[in-house]
Amino acid sequence: MSLPSGFRLFPTSLLALLLGATAPLAAGSSPAEQLLQLNRPLVIAHRGYPAVAPENTLPSFALALQAGADLVELDYHLSLDGVAVVMHDPTLDRTTDAKARWNAKDIRLADRTVAELQTLDAGAWFQPRFAATPPPLLTEALDLINQTGITLIERKAGDAASCVQLLRARALINRVVVQSFDWAYLRDFHALAPEQVLGALGPRGRADGRPLTPEEKILGPAHLDEIAALGARVAVWSKDVTRESVQQAHARGLKVWVYSINEPAPFLELLALGVDGFITNRTPLLWKTLATRPAAPPTAP
Ligand code: G3P
Ligand code: CA
Repeated sequence: MSLPSGFRLFPTSLLALLLGATAPLAAGSSPAEQLLQLNRPLVIAHRGYPAVAPENTLPSFALALQAGADLVELDYHLSLDGVAVVMHDPTLDRTTDAKARWNAKDIRLADRTVAELQTLDAGAWFQPRFAATPPPLLTEALDLINQTGITLIERKAGDAASCVQLLRARALINRVVVQSFDWAYLRDFHALAPEQVLGALGPRGRADGRPLTPEEKILGPAHLDEIAALGARVAVWSKDVTRESVQQAHARGLKVWVYSINEPAPFLELLALGVDGFITNRTPLLWKTLATRPAAPPTAP
C-alpha cells in the first residue's frame, strides 16, 4: 500500500535503529519468543500511530513501522459473516462515515457484512487527506505489518478457534502476540496453540459493572497467578503497577507491558519500576525519551 503524499521516512526510525529496535533478533526461537528475551524496553504502537494517522488503518500501521515500533497493536471484531475486521469500537460511528452513509447511529460492526464494511471511509473523520481509507481486514493488516514487523493482535470479539485457524493458515503463530481482556478466550487459545505468546489485559471490570477500587486495579499476586495458570506470558496492564507488581511478575517468569503511555514523565517513572513494554500513541516520542534520558548515577564501587 502507498502512504498519502507528504509522508516521508521518519527520522525516528533512524533513532530506533541506533537504539537497536530493528537489530536482528537471535536465531533459534520464534519472533514473539525473541521479543520476550530482549534485554531492553519494548515500544509498542497503539492502534498504529494515531497521533498522525487514523487509528487502526493501514496508513497508521505503516507509519508506526517507520517510527520503529517493536510491535504494532490493533483491535479486531467479527463482521456479520464472520470475517475479522480491524476496529476498536464495537460500533461504527466514531471512526467511520457509517452514520451519514446509512442514516442511522450506533450501527454495530457485527451487524454488517464484510462487503458492506469495506465500503466505509475510516480515514476522513481524522483528516481529509485520509479520505477513502477503508477499515482493514485483519488479514490485510497482518500482511502489511508482518512484512517487516510484529503485530500485537487484540481480540475484541470472536472465538479463539477462528483466530488460531487464521494465524495457522498464514504461518503466523508466534510471529504475532495475541492479547485480550477476556481471559476465557486466552485459555481457549492456549489450549489450541500452546506455543503462541499471549498477553492478558487488565485490570478487568467486574461482571456486575461496579467500578474497581484503586487497590483492586493494581496488578497483584492473585492476578499474576491467574495469568500464569491460563498460559499467558505477559501481563498487559494500565498504569496501575508498582515495583512489587513487576518483581512479582518477573518471579513468575512473566513480562509486564503497560498502556497507554503518551508522555515522557510516566514513561520514565514506569521504566524505573522495571516495566518491560510500553504501548503508546506516540512511538517516536518514547524512543526520543529513551535516547535522551538522564544517565543513571554511578554505583558505588
Ligand atoms: O493494548 C492495550 C490497549 O489497547 C487496551 O485498551 O481500549 O485501547 O483497546 P484499548
Ligand atoms: Ca487495543
